[in-house]
Amino acid sequence: MKPLIAGNWKMNGLGEAISEVQSLIAKFDGSAPDDRDVLICPPATLIGRFAAEFADEAIQIGGQDCHAKESGAHTGDISAAMLADAGAAYVIVGHSERRADHDELNADVKAKAEAVLSAGLIPIICVGETEKERKEERALEVVGTQLKESLPETADEFVIAYEPVWAIGTGLTPTLNDIAEMHRFIRSQTREDIRLLYGGSVSPTNAAEILAIDHVNGALVGGASLKADDFHSIVMAAKGA
Ligand code: 13P
Repeated sequence: MKPLIAGNWKMNGLGEAISEVQSLIAKFDGSAPDDRDVLICPPATLIGRFAAEFADEAIQIGGQDCHAKESGAHTGDISAAMLADAGAAYVIVGHSERRADHDELNADVKAKAEAVLSAGLIPIICVGETEKERKEERALEVVGTQLKESLPETADEFVIAYEPVWAIGTGLTPTLNDIAEMHRFIRSQTREDIRLLYGGSVSPTNAAEILAIDHVNGALVGGASLKADDFHSIVMAAKGA
């Protein structure tokens, strides 16, 4: 399976950040290797600009969220069709920061994933347990419920990102065994041809060992995706297909 290394810029990046993507591409000697997919999900304000600027490069641009409806009276929201129109190829849905900050439930995440598919884009559906849930040894059960309730009914292609909430932005990661166990479990709950990403404090230092785990088919990278040097190292740490 072709690995997918996705950068989630979250609420970071003004127009000048385009230079960081240009540096990344320069590090690839002009074009990213075609045995792996490279995706950057900047804030919505930059999607159109990045998609136009990098249309000929082997990197893709994605959104970080969308509304479940195609259009209508929803001030401030952005539909998947609009993201497609701006040049996005993927849309992250159900990130734990959306679930926590905007009270998004599994059913909302599923509706968004289906909206992304209807717009002809690929959803990256995020799941992951909290620190309390892991301590209570409920991680598999919690992620199992999220999967059951958040995945679209039918889809040609979607991506699942396992992001333990307590590993996001903390420098903490689960043990390699815990990542392996969770990814084996997620694989058992879904299809063989779906890419499963790990996310949560992925760095140039830990990327190679995490990306070598069975059923880890890529990474969803936050902080380290903002710096061309770090993101390039993580992209290159993936074993190409
Ligand atoms: P960090 O890589 O900064 O921990 O963020 C992970 C994340 O939330 C990506 O979606």
